[in-house]
Amino acid sequence: MARRMLIAGNWKMNGMPDQLGFFSDLHDQVGSPGVDVLICPPFPLIPGALDACAETSIRIGAQDCHPARAGAHTGDVSAALLAQLGVHAVIVGHSERREDHAESDAVVRGKAEAAISAGLVPIICVGETLAEREAGEAGLVVTRQLAGSIPETGRFVLAYEPVWAIGTGLTASLEDIAAMHAVIRGAIRDGDGTAILYGGSVKPGNAADILALDDVDGALVGGASLEAASFAAIVRSAVI
Ligand code: PGA
Repeated sequence: MARRMLIAGNWKMNGMPDQLGFFSDLHDQVGSPGVDVLICPPFPLIPGALDACAETSIRIGAQDCHPARAGAHTGDVSAALLAQLGVHAVIVGHSERREDHAESDAVVRGKAEAAISAGLVPIICVGETLAEREAGEAGLVVTRQLAGSIPETGRFVLAYEPVWAIGTGLTASLEDIAAMHAVIRGAIRDGDGTAILYGGSVKPGNAADILALDDVDGALVGGASLEAASFAAIVRSAVI
């Protein structure tokens, strides 16, 4: 199955209701771009974002979900609710959640399973820290995360995000990205059919080179997804 390019924006804990004009600006700048475009705003902005994108090809995702279908989990949000709202995908296992909320691979897998059962596409994040890379363990760490985080059945997207490249302005070299994406493709079930995104300081200036790599099927963009102009420039560099 051919893999489609996906450019996904992760707003993290940014964005306010008066910034939903972002979506018409983005639509004006990219139109129907021929690649998949997804924005993951904070939970309370999701209904407004869905309304704002109703007449466009832009899809809306969430940044997290709980492994359970419903229940006594104060502050959490179920994949089933997200799906009912019209959300398309959900990021799971982002390194900020693995770090801030001590999420283990098993928890991440549970979230990915919940997303799949609700009909959402989980975007499962993996990536090594700087210490792990310097110790020569990047490949080992990432393959261990993959083994622990990927559900046994169902379609998913992966995002390789070296932790040291997130929000730092540092990006992995093209050689390191290509090498890790090849490792990931070889390590997962249905490697050829699974989209593998790169994330970590993707910007308009470096996106074209990264997205041109063989095993890179898109990008997960943090900081540069907050402005329609910079995100649109990244989307345009994915269209060849
Ligand atoms: P960044 O974040 O583009 O700001 O580095 C990427 C991410 O965390 O997904």
